[in-house]
Amino acid sequence: MSRTLIPRDKRLPLEQLTPYLLPLSDPPTAFDFAAIFGNTNPLELEVGFGKGGFLLQSALSYPEVNYLGIEIEKAYVLYAATRLAKRNLRNVRLIHGDARRVIPAYFPEACLRTVHVYFPDPWWKRRHKKRRLFQEDFVRQCERILQPGGKLLIASDVEEYFGVMNELLCNQTHLQATDAPLPPSDPRWLTNFERKALQEGRKVFRAAYVKPLAPTNASVA
Ligand SMILES: C[S@@+](CC[C@H](N)C(=O)[O-])C[C@H]1O[C@@H](n2cnc3c(N)ncnc32)[C@H](O)[C@@H]1O
Repeated sequence: MSRTLIPRDKRLPLEQLTPYLLPLSDPPTAFDFAAIFGNTNPLELEVGFGKGGFLLQSALSYPEVNYLGIEIEKAYVLYAATRLAKRNLRNVRLIHGDARRVIPAYFPEACLRTVHVYFPDPWWKRRHKKRRLFQEDFVRQCERILQPGGKLLIASDVEEYFGVMNELLCNQTHLQATDAPLPPSDPRWLTNFERKALQEGRKVFRAAYVKPLAPTNASVA
């Protein structure tokens, strides 16, 4: 997938961004989020945050919630960190890495209230489909890191991939489909890709899943 490069002059120097970046220890140890944020506020994660618009609006609107983002493209991580630093938003931390590796290695079980995944790359070509974020392991990891009652929110403008995402969630996890959130009425809440999809007249598909409060015995495939 081609990316618009973000010019260097759109980023603050790395020293000013460091407080917003969460380093990955080697060897991996589980994150201690209470120590990282200095509080035990509810925690939400966005996977593949791109330019960071959703995290920025969320962190501004809900200062009593802690936000995490994982993004594989370093240029986006630094750009989003710059946006956070300019507003001195201390309830967000960004992780540079592949969510498929970072989540299993660093995220404790049942640590999150919500996981957001908006417009994951569809990787159209058949030989590239293995690069897709939504695979069996990823959906099972989403289930593992959600607290009972926690939610996974997804959106895509690619109907075929959206179908695959829902199929994986239904067949590989105990997460239960629930009412999807309404589309944001305030355009500031639209992610960059959602804005583009709507401008170009593409339909946006949304779904929400909830982790059952009590463990279920039903087996998954
Ligand atoms: C199509 S963009 C959507 C960005 C943003 N969510 C939006 O709606 O504007 C998909 C994003 O996911 C990131 N991404 C793709 N695979 C990833 C992975 N395995 N781990 C973390 N980020 C990933 C990409 O770099 C890109 O920024």
